Amino acid sequence: MTRAIHILNGPNLNLLGQREPEIYGSDTLAQIETRCNSAAKELGVALTFRQTNSEGTLVDHIHQARAEGADIVINAAAYTHTSVAVLDALKTCDGLQIIELHLSNPHRRETFRHHSYVALGATGVIAGFGAKGYLMALYAIAG
Ligand code: DQA
Repeated sequence: MTRAIHILNGPNLNLLGQREPEIYGSDTLAQIETRCNSAAKELGVALTFRQTNSEGTLVDHIHQARAEGADIVINAAAYTHTSVAVLDALKTCDGLQIIELHLSNPHRRETFRHHSYVALGATGVIAGFGAKGYLMALYAIAG
């Protein structure tokens, strides 16, 4: 059976490339998605790539990954640090791999970014490698 992976992106990541490029880099989310699609082809995985600015929709996206039995790569952005709802949704995904992803390294930044709810539900964490982290996450799950 073809392995399915959902890459889920949270708030403000639709503005990658324009948003604080000194922190998040100059690649747009569309460029990252294109690269992920190429890597997924190479790895033979079925990839779903999504972004939302709203917490409830991010929870819905996690439920959809769960329903498909898809492993999850999640950059929950600011909801990483605030959302018990996102953590609770991740905790329903028994048996699925979950990678918490960040472009920046939140531990080098403001103290409010040091705590992650997502980490409590994640198999592993990739942070600080910029856009490359998305490919690293795909290879970590399927390579
Ligand atoms: C981020 C880090 C978060 O602290 C921040 O709120 C983001 C992006 C990252 O990818 O580095 O929006 O998740």
